[in-house]
Amino acid sequence: MLTLRPGDTRDAWIVDELMAAAFDPRFGEAWTRSQCLGVLAMPGVSLMIACVDDQPAGFAMTRIVADEAELLLLAVAPAHQRHGIGGTLLGAVIAECERAGVRTLHLEVRAGNPALALYGQSGFAKVGERRAYYRGRDGEAFDAHTYSRAI
Ligand SMILES: CC(C)(COP(=O)(O)OP(=O)(O)OC[C@H]1O[C@@H](n2cnc3c(N)ncnc32)[C@H](O)[C@@H]1OP(=O)(O)O)[C@@H](O)C(=O)NCCC(=O)NCCS
Repeated sequence: MLTLRPGDTRDAWIVDELMAAAFDPRFGEAWTRSQCLGVLAMPGVSLMIACVDDQPAGFAMTRIVADEAELLLLAVAPAHQRHGIGGTLLGAVIAECERAGVRTLHLEVRAGNPALALYGQSGFAKVGERRAYYRGRDGEAFDAHTYSRAI
């Protein structure tokens, strides 16, 4: 059974484990644990954890500032991918933004990340590109694309 619950800095280890499992280290998209802890402590940052049978399976981290929000991270453990958890987390983030009076939700994603399919069907449109934004494990650079969605 899939459940969602809010998280906080005490859940940094869950974020850490899920991130290490979900993000391919070739692309340099994952954050370090100390980066996560620092961001989780910032005002307006919220964490949503998806559990399957009470075991953490995915998470979304969002920052809301006034009427703008950014989806900072979204990840689902490989064993649980393609079962609707990423879409459920994204839907919950959008609902949270609606409740908070957010007008625009932004995100940034590596060019070529399969997550683009999920964002495209969730109403996000491309608004920009950042060249060589991610630095992969072997030093290779990857572009980031920025997307946004009206709430
Ligand atoms: C992106 C991610 C969170 C999606 O999670 P998920 O639980 O697998 O997503 P869902 O099952 O809700 O997918 C919903 C739809 O999005 C699309 N989609 C999701 N992952 C996809 C993939 N790898 N390739 C193509 N389409 C994909 C599909 O249309 C899918 O519907 P379908 O399975 O019925 O075809 C997950 O793949 C992940 O953790 N990736 C690694 C981390 C990452 O890159 N995060 C995004 C950048 S922050």
